[in-house]
Parts: sequence; structure tokens; C-alpha cells
Amino acid sequence: MVRRLKPHVQVYPNLRAETTALARHIATVARKCVRERGVFHFVLSGGRTPKALYRLLARRYRETFPWHATQVFFGDERCVTPADPESNYAMARAALLSHVPIPLTQIHRLPGEVRPLSKAAASYASLIGPLPSRRGSASVRFDLVLLGLGSDGHLASLFPGASALRERRRTVVAVPHAGQPPYVPRLTLTVPALCSAREVCFLVSGEEKAAAVAASLGAPHAEDRRLPANLIHGVQATVWFLDRGAAVSLPRQSWTS
Ligand code: 6PG
Repeated sequence: MVRRLKPHVQVYPNLRAETTALARHIATVARKCVRERGVFHFVLSGGRTPKALYRLLARRYRETFPWHATQVFFGDERCVTPADPESNYAMARAALLSHVPIPLTQIHRLPGEVRPLSKAAASYASLIGPLPSRRGSASVRFDLVLLGLGSDGHLASLFPGASALRERRRTVVAVPHAGQPPYVPRLTLTVPALCSAREVCFLVSGEEKAAAVAASLGAPHAEDRRLPANLIHGVQATVWFLDRGAAVSLPRQSWTS
């Protein structure tokens, strides 16, 4: 049985402080990875919340982040064209990727426009390659996976109770029906792919997410396997970056800081 480390829960006064701390953390992890292994494998999340983080990385870390040695992936994508305003890639490109010196060949977007969706999922899976089958740090495929959380508890495009949550073999699957807007089909990394991260960082903001955060992190339903976050953990660490609104239903003792 895989030993699961307790998640760290870091609570900040607001989204700005939370984002500042997370940007600093990602830059520190990236530099360490590049120093130790020559590359940083970074999985981006979609949705609205990370936009401020991406803008900050582009602004404050343009010169000091090892972009030349960073390989960018995506945790999920809405099945639209890459220029569509609903595209996670379009958001990340506009807020971050078009402003930093990262070679285009190091940006690996999920092909949301490819049909059938099974073909799109299979092509991203072959780009990721097979997951290392060994234990501990030898099982790492990605260095840092960034995730958000929906008010229903979904992460990437893994929705509570969805059959995609039970996928144990494939690394990427198509999700024909999204549980929250935009109601377009999705492509998503699966539980084993997300858990092949050395570190998973959640970025969650706002009181409307508080119930989902508490359900994902605490009793009484911590073992509820229909809740995606109960299944996701990094090989070395899982860190939740929250603002006070998102943390409002968590017991104070569960905060790490
Ligand atoms: C997506 C996502 C999704 C997102 C959450 C939170 O494509 O929608 O990647 O998992 O992270 O829905 O989204 P917000 O930050 O917009 O609340």
C-alpha cells in the first residue's frame, strides 16, 4: 500500500497573498528541479483562479524562472479550438506563455479540437508516455501539478462520482459530459497521471469553494472515493494554497500556517 503523506494547508488573507506565495513556491521548486535534474515538468490548471498566478509568473519571474528548461503540460482541456475563449490553453497562453521565454516546442497542450475525443486523449497519452511503474521518487512523471477545485469538488475535469475517477490504466481520458460550466466535453489527466507528480499544489479561492475544500480535506467523508481530491496526492507533497474564504469551513488546527 502506498503511504499517503498528510497534505499541507496554507491559508492566506486573500487571493493576492495566496498567489504571491504560490508563485514564489513554484519558482523555488522549478529552480531546484533544474539544478538537480536539468528539467522542470510543470502541469498547468485551467479555470479562472490561476489567471492571477500566471500573470504574476509572467511579470515577476520572467527573467528569474528557468523557462528554458521547463516543459509545460495541461491537467485538462475543454474540447474547443485553442483560440476559443473557453480554452484553458488560450487562457494560459494569454496570461503567461506568450510573455515568457519558453520555446514553443516545450509547450504541450491538450488537443481539444481533435475528433474523435478518444483519438485526442490517446495522442496526449502517447506524448506523456507510460508512467514509471516503480515506487517512491522513481514513480515521478511530473515535477509539479497545479490544480484548482470546483464548488462541486471537481478537479481537472474529474467530476465527483464520474467513471473517469476509476480509470487506473490510461493517463488521459475524454469526459463527454462536464458536471459544471462550460458544458462542453473535456479531456483530462486521470488519477494515476496526476498522482505521478512529485508535488501537487491546489490553488483555491473564495467562500463558494469552502464546502468543497472542507469535504475534500477533512472529516467526516475523507474516505469518500467519489470525491476527486481524496484520490489525489503528490509522491513527495500535496500543498493546498487557500485564501480565508476558501478555508472558512476548515478547523483551524488543520492549517499548516
Ligand atoms: C477547468 C478546470 C477546473 C478548474 C476548476 C476551478 O477546465 O474548468 O481545469 O478543474 O480548475 O473548475 O475553476 P475556477 O478557478 O474557474 O473556479
